[in-house]
This record gives sequence, C-alpha cells and structure tokens, in this order.
Amino acid sequence: MIELIAELPQDRWEVEALYDLCFAPGREALSSYRLRDDVAPVPGLSQVARDELGIVAGAIRFWPVHIGDKDALLLGPVAVHPTHQGEGLGGSLIRDSLAKAESSGWARVLLVGDAPYYQRFGFERLSGVEMPPPTNPLRVLGFALKPGAWDDVSGTVRRWQG
Ligand SMILES: CC(C)(COP(=O)(O)OP(=O)(O)OC[C@H]1O[C@@H](n2cnc3c(N)ncnc32)[C@H](O)[C@@H]1OP(=O)(O)O)[C@@H](O)C(=O)NCCC(=O)NCCS
Repeated sequence: MIELIAELPQDRWEVEALYDLCFAPGREALSSYRLRDDVAPVPGLSQVARDELGIVAGAIRFWPVHIGDKDALLLGPVAVHPTHQGEGLGGSLIRDSLAKAESSGWARVLLVGDAPYYQRFGFERLSGVEMPPPTNPLRVLGFALKPGAWDDVSGTVRRWQG
C-alpha cells in the first residue's frame, strides 16, 4: 500500500535522491530550476509517496511563481521510483495534488514536460507564457484550476518574490 504524505523539511534529501535516480545528471542546470532557487516548495501540495516500509516510491513538488501580475504554481519535479513506474502512482500524485491546489485557492498550474503524458490530466500547451530560456515552448503546459484561469495570462515566468 502506498500513502501520499505532505513533504516535510526532513524529507528533503530522500526526495532529492529519488530525483537524482529518475532524472539525467545535471537536472539542476535546467532553466526551470532558476525559478526554484532560494524559494521553498509549497507546503501541503508537495507530497511524498511512501510504501508500507516507509520507503520513498514517488514525489511531487510545487513552486509558486509570477507571470505578469498573476500568480501560478509551477509543478515539478514529479518522479516515481523505477520499481513502481506504470502502477498509476504518478497519476495519483498529480491528481491528488491538483485537487489540493484547487481547494487551497490556487487558480492555475504550469509545468515543463511531455505533453503526451500530461494531457491526460488536462494540461494544454500555453502560448504567450515564456519560461526562462532555453526552454522548448512546446513543453510549456498549463492547467486551469478555475474556469478561464489562463485567459489573458501572458509574459515571462518569474521567480517568486514573496
Ligand atoms: C513520468 C512518471 C512520473 C510517470 O509516473 P508513473 O507512475 O510511471 O505513471 P502512471 O503509472 O501514472 O502512468 C503510466 C503511463 O504514463 C505513460 N508515460 C510515462 N511517462 C511518459 C512520457 N514521458 N510521455 C508519455 N507517456 C508517458 C506510460 O507509458 C503509461 O502509459 P499507459 O497508461 O498508456 O500504459 C515516471 O515515469 C517517472 O518518474 N519518470 C522519470 C522522471 C520523469 O520523466 N518525470 C516527468 C518529467 S516531465
């Protein structure tokens, strides 16, 4: 049985180890990480999935960002340990966290990722929203937690200023 639990500060290095395992070396050089420097993941939405022995099976994090005068959540990284991939855990982490984000009052979520995976959750390509370069614009995807939340939102995604 896998349990989803809000990430706590003491979970940090177990989650980093999972991301190191699941992503190519040098992941922190990606431009999206510049939006995360010195900003804490959003508490409550960032979650860790643990198996019955307490071993980390997956994790998801969210960061707050600004786009123009609007706020958004930046989803990611999300990863599932190779021994648990294909069991629906990635989907559970994403759907559960999006529901929590909606009930917390957030309006919109964006990410940089593979559209063939994320479109099943309702993510669509965002035009006019620019991640720090170099980012392939085809991989910039958005999800509205409130109807029309991405209408008229455009500009460069900026690091959260508090
Ligand atoms: C992507 C990831 C989080 C998915 O987690 P998961 O628990 O394996 O996913 P689920 O079980 O919910 O869904 C599995 C389905 O997603 C598909 N899928 C997984 N990664 C995909 C991708 N990059 N593009 C398209 N489809 C993908 C699988 O083929 C499978 O399809 P099916 O349902 O038709 O069989 C996981 O594979 C992972 O950690 N990958 C390495 C890190 C990574 O790439 N993270 C995402 C960054 S964009």
